[in-house]
Amino acid sequence: MSEVPTLAGQIAVVTGASRGIGAAIARKLAALGAHTILTARNQKSLERIADEISTAGGRAECHPCDLAEPKQIESFARGVLQAHGRCDILVNNAGIGWFQGPLHMMAPEDWERIVAINLRAPYLLLRAFAPAMIAAKRGHIINLSSLAGKNPVPNGAAYAGSKSGLNGMMVSAAEELRQHQVRVSLVAPGTVRTEFGSGASQKKSPQGAIQAEDIANIVALLATQADQSFISEVLVRPTLKS
Ligand SMILES: NC(=O)c1ccc[n+]([C@@H]2O[C@H](COP(=O)([O-])OP(=O)(O)OC[C@H]3O[C@@H](n4cnc5c(N)ncnc54)[C@H](OP(=O)(O)O)[C@@H]3O)[C@@H](O)[C@H]2O)c1
Repeated sequence: MSEVPTLAGQIAVVTGASRGIGAAIARKLAALGAHTILTARNQKSLERIADEISTAGGRAECHPCDLAEPKQIESFARGVLQAHGRCDILVNNAGIGWFQGPLHMMAPEDWERIVAINLRAPYLLLRAFAPAMIAAKRGHIINLSSLAGKNPVPNGAAYAGSKSGLNGMMVSAAEELRQHQVRVSLVAPGTVRTEFGSGASQKKSPQGAIQAEDIANIVALLATQADQSFISEVLVRPTLKS
C-alpha cells in the first residue's frame, strides 16, 4: 500500500460497500490503514471487494445486512461492537433512487422503501454506534446525501425528500454530538458515474463526470482531519457543466 496509514487502528463501517461509491470508500479507507467493515445485501460482491482490499494489503471484513430491516441493522451493529469494541468511522453510504414518475403516481410501498433505506437506516445506524463513539470521545459519521436534497428533482420527489430529510436530521445530530467530539458530516454530490438508479447515472453522466473515487477521496479527507477541524458539509459538482 502506498498511502500513509493515517487511519491505522481505526474501525470504519461502510454501508453500500458492495459496489459504486461505497466500494470506492471502503478501498480508500482501508488503503489509509482503517480496518474496514463492509456491508450491503450482496455477499458475493462484498467478498470480492474485501478480497481486493486484502490483496492490496488492507484489512477488511464483510457482513451482509438488509438495511430495510431494522432487526438486521441492530444485530449487525451489535456484532461489530462485540467483535471490535468500537466504531471510529461510520459511512452511511447505501441509498436507493426512484425516478419513474411524479410523486402522485408513486406507490406507497416504493415511497416507504426509499425512506427506510435513505433515512431510517442512517438514523438506526447512528443510534447503534453513537453511544460507543460518545464513550470513546471520538468518532465520525459521514453521510452520503445528494444535490437532489437541495434542488428540485421532478420525477424523483421521494428521493429528493429522503436526502433533504437526511440533511436536516444529520445537521441537527451534528450539533447534539459535537460536544462529545463526535463529528457528523454530509457529502452531497451531483451525478456520479455508478450503477445507481439502474445505471441511470452512467447514462446521464457525460465525459468529465464525477467518479466514485472522487467521492472516496473527499470521505478520506473528512476522516483524516485534525481533531479540532470539522468539515460539516461538502457539495460536489462536476467541473464541466453538461
Ligand atoms: N451515483 C450518483 O449519481 C449519486 C449522486 C448523489 C448521491 N448518491 C448517493 O451515493 C450513495 C451511493 O450511491 P451509488 O451511486 O454508489 O449507488 P449504487 O451503485 O446503486 O450502490 C448502492 C449500494 O447500496 C446498497 N444497498 C441498496 N439497497 C440496500 C439495502 N436494502 N440494504 C443494504 N444495502 C443496500 C447496494 O448493495 P446491495 O445491492 O448489495 O444491497 C450498493 O452497495 C447513495 O446514498 C446515493 O443516494 C449517488
